[in-house]
Amino acid sequence: TKIVVVNGPNLGRLGVREPEIYGSETLEDLRIACSQWGSELGMDVEVRQSDDEAEVIRWMHQAVDEKTPIVLNPAAFTHYSYGLADAAAQVTDEGIPLIEVHISNPASRESFRKYSVISPIATGTITGMGFWGYKLAIDAINHIVED
Ligand code: DQA
Repeated sequence: TKIVVVNGPNLGRLGVREPEIYGSETLEDLRIACSQWGSELGMDVEVRQSDDEAEVIRWMHQAVDEKTPIVLNPAAFTHYSYGLADAAAQVTDEGIPLIEVHISNPASRESFRKYSVISPIATGTITGMGFWGYKLAIDAINHIVED
């Protein structure tokens, strides 16, 4: 099985951006960790990142067309992008798993982070576990697709 891990805006700055919140590891470290976690399960995990809402939306359409499970850290799009929410809804409407992940726990931060437009359409949501949350999401997808 192939899984695509999609990271939204500013996550290309991991390691540099607010390390006290997001840790000191980089997007490249995340890429290495995710492909390792995937290969332990016999899954091919591809990690992508974009600051461009249109590109992230296109990746959702591609997931629908190719029936690829998604791990999505929508970053700030989480809190306001109905365009991304509509695109992500097409994924789960097709019965394709889409797990929302946040490195930090947005519920414990500024009030604008407490609401997610993605959570209502996600298969499930994992927050506050750092990079480990991506592993939990990959494990969850593995369980779902094996059932
Ligand atoms: C984030 C949380 C969001 O509120 C924030 O805009 C991000 C990262 C996280 O992974 O904790 O960019 O999605």
